[in-house]
Amino acid sequence: MPKEINLYRFMKGRNEDNQDLITALEHMSKAAIIISDQLAGQLHLMSPSAESINLHGEIQHYLDQFAEQQFLNALTDSDSCFAVISEEQEDYIQLSSALSQRARYIIALDPLDGSSNIDVNVPVGSIFSIYDRFKSASPNHPAAVLQDSGSQVAAGYFLYGPATMLVMALSDQVNGFTLDRSLHEFILSHPDIRIPENGSIYSVNDGNYHQFDRGTQNYLRFCRQQEEFYGSAFTARYIGSMVADIHRTLFRGGIFLYPATTAAPSGKLRLAYECRPMAYIIEKAGGLANSGPKNILEIDLSSPHQRAPVVMGSAEMVRTAQNFLNSSL
Ligand code: AHG
Ligand code: MN
Ligand code: MN
Ligand code: MN
Repeated sequence: MPKEINLYRFMKGRNEDNQDLITALEHMSKAAIIISDQLAGQLHLMSPSAESINLHGEIQHYLDQFAEQQFLNALTDSDSCFAVISEEQEDYIQLSSALSQRARYIIALDPLDGSSNIDVNVPVGSIFSIYDRFKSASPNHPAAVLQDSGSQVAAGYFLYGPATMLVMALSDQVNGFTLDRSLHEFILSHPDIRIPENGSIYSVNDGNYHQFDRGTQNYLRFCRQQEEFYGSAFTARYIGSMVADIHRTLFRGGIFLYPATTAAPSGKLRLAYECRPMAYIIEKAGGLANSGPKNILEIDLSSPHQRAPVVMGSAEMVRTAQNFLNSSL
């Protein structure tokens, strides 16, 4: 038995009917390796293609479009994906592979997350949620399948950092795989990841402080005053790529917030392909993921690019934060 456990052997070892899932994950991994290779030192790819602005009014980088195309090509080839909703496309994309009627999954995709960081060489990632459409009463209608998160069967992200990693949550646990470039394969490196119950790192764009509601401001003052009142200080860390901020939170413990602001009353992050997948991962690792008074995974998706304010991370920290945030609800 080879010593490394690659993604295929890991999934086969689960002894369940998951061949379609293995196919989808293997094809997405292939796309991620291509994206990772492109990111390595291709300076001309780093600059935003200034003339293109996406449907969110954000500057669209060449790599946003390149990454999306790699995933769409790979998922079409996989014959396991019925449709995709991508950050960079207005509506659901039906994959026109011959067998798509049999294709089991609908995938919500952020092809490149943190793209404002690309041209300063800060880690970026790709985020995905996988829905089993046959768990839905309306399997041929992607919007109906994704309305509630009940048919979400997996979620994960690729992180293009010093190492390229895949962190993937299935029904029962979260596992980390690291790209072995000599093998061109993701190898199991972090089995059964559990987020620390508590932590001392808070992650938020503090520049928006005066746009936050009172409860959020009170929580952030509580974080800043830890040393004064409780003896040991918290640490503030904010990278600006959600994948990198969540990855650190998952491994070190802590709390990540993207609250509502006066400019963005529903927050900035998109429910389908940023909030839900990260909430699924954080919760399967033992953490908490809320939006206002609700758990993120309880929020219905009524439009493909709907935004939601989020607070997620170590359970103890999220519970403490929620006490402050509730005072504004
Ligand atoms: P994307 O690059 O996919 O559009 O996502 C960017 C998101 C997310 O990665 C990050 O947490 C957030 O934008 C940072 O927003 P601010 O710059 O407003 O803090
Ligand atoms: Mn974007
Ligand atoms: Mn994103
Ligand atoms: Mn993106």
